[in-house]
Amino acid sequence: CAAATLLVRQRMKSNSKWSKAMTILKEFEGRCSTPMSKLRQVADAMAVEMHAGLASEGGSKLKMLISYVDNLPTGDEEGLFYALDLGGTNFRVLRVHLGGKEKRVVHQEFEEVSIPPHLMVGSSEALFGFIASALAKFVATEDPALNLAPGRQRELGFTFSFPVRQLSIASGALIKWTKGFLIEDAVGEDVVAELTRALEREGLDMRVAALVNDTIGTLAGGRYYNPDVIAAVILGTGTNAAYVERAHAIPKWHGLLPKSGEMVINMEWGNFRSSHLPISEYDQALDVESLNPGEQIFEKMISGMYLGDIVRRVLLRMAEEASFFGDTVPPNLKIPFILRTPDMSAMHHDKSSDLKVVGTKLKDILGISNTSLKTRKVVVELCDIVATRAARLSAAGILGILKKLGRDTVREGDNQKSVIAMDGGLYEHYTKFSSCLESTLRELIGKEVSKNIVIEHSNDGSGIGAALLAASHSQYLYVQES
Ligand code: GLC
Repeated sequence: CAAATLLVRQRMKSNSKWSKAMTILKEFEGRCSTPMSKLRQVADAMAVEMHAGLASEGGSKLKMLISYVDNLPTGDEEGLFYALDLGGTNFRVLRVHLGGKEKRVVHQEFEEVSIPPHLMVGSSEALFGFIASALAKFVATEDPALNLAPGRQRELGFTFSFPVRQLSIASGALIKWTKGFLIEDAVGEDVVAELTRALEREGLDMRVAALVNDTIGTLAGGRYYNPDVIAAVILGTGTNAAYVERAHAIPKWHGLLPKSGEMVINMEWGNFRSSHLPISEYDQALDVESLNPGEQIFEKMISGMYLGDIVRRVLLRMAEEASFFGDTVPPNLKIPFILRTPDMSAMHHDKSSDLKVVGTKLKDILGISNTSLKTRKVVVELCDIVATRAARLSAAGILGILKKLGRDTVREGDNQKSVIAMDGGLYEHYTKFSSCLESTLRELIGKEVSKNIVIEHSNDGSGIGAALLAASHSQYLYVQES
């Protein structure tokens, strides 16, 4: 009889722990909810902030940076160009041989180098030195037969995926670091000058012809293949968007009116924030403990750098307050960023009946063994809550851009396509995320408008895009024109 009572007590205790864990989960789910009405408010707020950011410098959390790109690729670009893509945990160097309208990209080669973590938080000289040396090694592998004009200085498109206040197409001061970078002495400096000095130290004679954000590169790369591309969105380690604006609609632009009448704007939408955003206490804690507290709030709810860590934070609370993983809190759960978004994605996509992948990830990453199927199901549900909120907010952001451009409605007989070039690992590899984004956008804009809005994956478009912009801003351009 005593044994039976003990068993009943144990069961009651475990039931009450389970229900505490479910309460934590359900409360979080409630905080994250994104009904259509909320998404519309977010989209409206985004459009309002876009106006404010274009009106004056510092007029909004959205910086709406002027890119100095007033002409997008046409297909006529020709020659051998380099590109360097810095912005995530890896950087890439590219060599692209452009063959003009008929031949397009004749040949391209690239190399990817991972950035040692200490360089992401060290000195400017060390980071740029490392990049320049990798670039020099890459240039040394150039096939002499490719060099179409011997004696001509090599030119580079530099994709630098951080907010930069540009002074021209090939110069600009770093406003702040985002994502996992924090190198104090580079803030406020011209990143092209820094890179150029590092290239000189390497003895590499190369000119930076264009400095572009990855969103701008993706837009340029997308436009090269499809003239209907009007915006680009990156959903990767960070998130951001760029789009083509009418120069007249940019009150803060005091330069000459571009011939095209257009200017590409780097929104830096990762820094968007609004009282309409469904922010939870876990997001707040993540922000406070981040390298850039108070900044990049939208990015912290959406992008690949953070999603896994939001999941970890909720699991930690469930472990601490509801013994979700047993009587002791698994120590690894306390390590920030230990659960990466690709692992979260693998768990979320687990199709096996016993959720084997979830079990393995929990064991290998968090050191939690012997999880029950019930527990694993809860983990999947949590991944779903976090990824769904992110995807739906991204869709709202895109609706904001379409609203600003007046492309969120159809006029009679209007079948003008609006193509959005998308790139980034989150979009590319996290299928449940991207399909949720796409279906949410369709729902937001309705069937009729949906026919005219196309989301196109622009695979690694930003590297090619930077090379294309280097080509159209080449110092040798007059040779081609004459
Ligand atoms: C961060 C950067 C932004 C970049 C984005 C995607 O938000 O600030 O410049 O475009 O990440 O890489």
